[in-house]
Amino acid sequence: MSDKPANPILCAIDLADPAKAKTLVRELKGAVGGIKLGLEFFTANGPRAVRDVAQGLPLFLDLKLHDIPNTVSGAVKAAAALEPTFLTVHCGGGRAMMQAAAEAAKQAARKTRMKLLGVTVLTSLDERDLDSVGQKGPTGEQVKRLALLAKESGLDGIICSPHEVAELRQLVGTDFLLVVPGIRVGSLGHGDQKRVMGPRDAVQAGADYLVIGRPITGSPSPPAAARAMLAEIRKP
Ligand code: C5P
Repeated sequence: MSDKPANPILCAIDLADPAKAKTLVRELKGAVGGIKLGLEFFTANGPRAVRDVAQGLPLFLDLKLHDIPNTVSGAVKAAAALEPTFLTVHCGGGRAMMQAAAEAAKQAARKTRMKLLGVTVLTSLDERDLDSVGQKGPTGEQVKRLALLAKESGLDGIICSPHEVAELRQLVGTDFLLVVPGIRVGSLGHGDQKRVMGPRDAVQAGADYLVIGRPITGSPSPPAAARAMLAEIRKP
């Protein structure tokens, strides 16, 4: 938390169509701190489309890499060509994989080094799912175990739910990024997000960045929605 970003809002551009995505990102310039493009967009449209859509905005490339250390290292180096600000890897890939990713990010750094964020436990998994793949629960404990392992292995932060932020902040200290999806505002429906929080509360609980999709992209004016959230976050 040492370097608080001027605008912590990263907008999830969950659109498969590159033309529509590009128009939306153009509208959002100046209203958000960055944009997130995920595996679906990357797989469908490739790295060139990612660069084209990002239009120079800080890019969160959400590829959730998970493979043997050598392969992840190569993928991190390849991703560096897109100069992302953030790139995700699965903490479940283990210490050596995360260390290899961190080393690759360092070696591939251009003007700045990308920040690597770990995915701990997917929120789609419950305790029974963890048990069925042989992972030790309860889920909250597994999240904490993987968060500490990510920090020890040289990652820059993790993705976590808004309701985990305060406890994780205590655990990992201030020099580790907590990036938080599951943000909802006012009268907006919760969609498929069950464990949600408002943007201001999430930042006050210790979030460094917020990943916000539909509350911005589904609004009649996406830039106005993003600016309203930023104003709420910054309110004295
Ligand atoms: O539209 P919404 O605000 O729910 O979008 C949140 C973004 O964060 C989506 O891109 C979603 O895939 C991602 N995400 C999430 N929950 C997680 C991890 C990632 O919603 N646990």
